[in-house]
Amino acid sequence: MQPAEIAKDVYEVGVTDWNIRDFHGYSTHLGTTYNAFLIFDEKIVLIDTVKKEFENQFLDNISKIIDPKKIDFLISNHTEMDHSGGMARVISEIGKEKPIFCSNMGAKNLPLHFSQKWNLHPVKNGEELSIGKRTLTFLETRMLHWPDSMFTYLKEDKILFSSDAFGQHYAGHEKFDGQIGDAIMPHAKKYFANILLLYSPQILKLLENVKKLGLEFNMICPDHGIIWKNNPSKIIEAYGRWSKQIPEKKAIVVYDTMWHSTEIMANAITSGIVEENVAARPMKLRTYDRSDIMTEVMDAKGVILGSPTLNNGLFPTLGDFITYMKGFKPRNKIGAAFGSYGWSGESVKLLNKELEAMKFELIDPGIKCQYVPGKEQIAACFEFGRKIGRKICELT
Ligand code: FEO
Repeated sequence: MQPAEIAKDVYEVGVTDWNIRDFHGYSTHLGTTYNAFLIFDEKIVLIDTVKKEFENQFLDNISKIIDPKKIDFLISNHTEMDHSGGMARVISEIGKEKPIFCSNMGAKNLPLHFSQKWNLHPVKNGEELSIGKRTLTFLETRMLHWPDSMFTYLKEDKILFSSDAFGQHYAGHEKFDGQIGDAIMPHAKKYFANILLLYSPQILKLLENVKKLGLEFNMICPDHGIIWKNNPSKIIEAYGRWSKQIPEKKAIVVYDTMWHSTEIMANAITSGIVEENVAARPMKLRTYDRSDIMTEVMDAKGVILGSPTLNNGLFPTLGDFITYMKGFKPRNKIGAAFGSYGWSGESVKLLNKELEAMKFELIDPGIKCQYVPGKEQIAACFEFGRKIGRKICELT
């Protein structure tokens, strides 16, 4: 996309990655963007760079506005390679002597990514940098979502450059929230569920601090997706809600199946849950991507896992998903397990163990079915679902 002036003398100069579909294991069905920003004052400041494979396009974008050599400062809000991959090239263009402002952890981590001697200037939380008529304030946001993460705030314009926070993996023609409306929220939710959920306590603390400091935002500019300009408080409120992990009256039945037996059980359990007026959806692991399932898990009260027994263990996709989900430490959930088997039937026991390890409240020892579920077993699965549904109604 073409660079655009998003506020007076502030340009978005990043790139659009239309074709990426797998962002380190996160499905990006509509691609993403790597946003970067140029601020013109007495000093010319570049905030963040882009993924390495886009470095030429990025420099072309900058060159449409200014000769890159005229950039005075580079700010690195975050070391991860989707924002720093192009740094070496950018620095060689703008000049190796130019100061790079980053967090303390950034100054430790950048040299571990690039074995080059750069003019790194670590900044403290709250430190200010005058760039002429305007001031940049640096806000340390450690573990949101890397140790080096920080925000940069353009004080006089009340513009927050928030790195990954408030982002969405979305590539489109729209630049601002006002152009896309509520259709952006599922992308923002998926991003939160798959990048930030683990750091919910830190996010709540950050939001409290922002309130205490009386910081106001005319615009929030994340490094991915659209810019929050029309209503920045919408995403702040959503982050407050998601970080509290207050679940909805909803269950997700996550399963895989070999000869459809566990699938028949999953469908009957889902019907039973729905019978109790609780929203429910079966999600087969080889149909849905793990990151799409995680998005649904985030605000569900019930997480019901189903697996056939394979070689005395779980079906492998369950192992993948449980490993992934466990990493986010989802809270305030109830869990239950089910599965079909031929002769040994360990899957339910193994799933229960995993649910307990995640501190999910186990509401039933689970339900097993040998080979193919018949009428009675399907009815038992339906009743099992109703029990789950009633428990969810009681707790939400
Ligand atoms: Fe968009 Fe943590 O990188």
